[in-house]
Amino acid sequence: MNKTLKCSLVVLALIGFVGCGEKGGDSNSSSSLSSAVSSAVGGGSDPLMDKAKKAGLLPIPADEKELNKLIDNPKNPITAEKIELGKKLYFDPRLSRSNLISCNTCHNLATGGVDGVEAAIGDGWTTNPHHLNSPTVYNSVFNKSQFWDGRSPHLEDQAQGPIQAGPEMAAPKDLVVKRVTSIPAYVEEFKKAYGDDVKITFEKITDTIGLFERTLVTPSKFDAFLNGKADALNADEKAGLTLFIDKGCTACHNGIALGGDMQNFDATGSYKYKDVGDFKGNADKKVKAPTLRNIEETAPYYHNGKVWTLKEAIQQMGKVQLMTEINDADNAKIEAFLKTLTGTKPDIKYPVLPASTATTPQPIVK
Ligand code: HEC
Ligand code: HEC
Repeated sequence: MNKTLKCSLVVLALIGFVGCGEKGGDSNSSSSLSSAVSSAVGGGSDPLMDKAKKAGLLPIPADEKELNKLIDNPKNPITAEKIELGKKLYFDPRLSRSNLISCNTCHNLATGGVDGVEAAIGDGWTTNPHHLNSPTVYNSVFNKSQFWDGRSPHLEDQAQGPIQAGPEMAAPKDLVVKRVTSIPAYVEEFKKAYGDDVKITFEKITDTIGLFERTLVTPSKFDAFLNGKADALNADEKAGLTLFIDKGCTACHNGIALGGDMQNFDATGSYKYKDVGDFKGNADKKVKAPTLRNIEETAPYYHNGKVWTLKEAIQQMGKVQLMTEINDADNAKIEAFLKTLTGTKPDIKYPVLPASTATTPQPIVK
């Protein structure tokens, strides 16, 4: 494997799976990502740290091994080879029947892991039939379940959905396997990742994409604060965090993701745009509370993408979830706090994908 590419995956250096030497081993390359969390010492202590933890908020661990334990998949442990391959597949539009749409089309890693439109647009310019907004893939490893209705248990399972879904990538399993196996460089990479007798199945492909997604974690100054750096947040941001706890936001937005679990929605008030799309939650009418990490970058908001500003998102939450009017001054402070959740992204180098061959099935564009 290309060593530069391997080392460019900063998150791997962070997690410490590989070094840049021939044999792997200890990483000696420091990264902005690891320094964002590991510089989290000093600055004294602040009672707000304990208050936040008591309210259920958790930092992304500063310790690489601890983080690794949280994100790794014991059934398919992370290695540099698998992650590099998973990254290529994530960016490869040939996993869609049209050759035009990749995971990155709707979960663009350059724009907060989202597409920036109200409802996702996929194969044949089809809008999501339920008017559902694309959630971010960053930190999705910390969600307790995946999708707005929580119907998928983990990222590996989740990745099978969009490739086959008609309004998304619209590619049947066998077409995807044929495309990948017709490209010798891909076959070679699967062998390197999983051994010479690897069977390249649809599930192997989606497992590898899911594994790559597990590395998409983004520590922020909020983590530095919770990990012990009292001056990582300024006075307004701390006031916002205090309000976020005192107003009850942490009842649903907690854990490392500040969300990621199924919650009641629309219980104490009526969501202003409830009639846009037909999504009503899961069987218990619960909706997954989205992660609030990188929320500054992931507008528009809510399952149907009808809310374009954080101010309105916060206002609606007050009404719909907490039976309270949040005044403008408090709203601005909460927004200042939410912006501290904008994290350092892994340094992802756009991959050069291996060429198709004469036997690669051609695009289907109608
Ligand atoms: C056409 C746009 C589109 C494409 C292409 C697409 N997705 Fe999605 N993705 C969505 C939408 C919309 C949802 C929410 C759907 C739902 O909840 O029913 C979603 C949900 C997800 C989630 C769940 C996140 C969460 O917080 O619940 C993950 C993870 C994800 N997609 C990863 C992928 C991967 C991996 C690929 C490529 C194999 C992919 N997506 C391709 C639009 C897209
Ligand atoms: C009872 C649980 C609950 C409480 C309390 C709650 N939320 Fe939410 N939050 C949710 C759910 C569920 C959603 C998704 C709703 C939807 O889109 O249908 C959500 C969505 C959001 C969004 C939009 C996220 C996105 O990516 O679309 C923001 C921002 C938000 N909440 C902030 C807050 C703030 C700030 C508070 C406190 C004032 C709060 N929430 C209180 C459950 C809750």
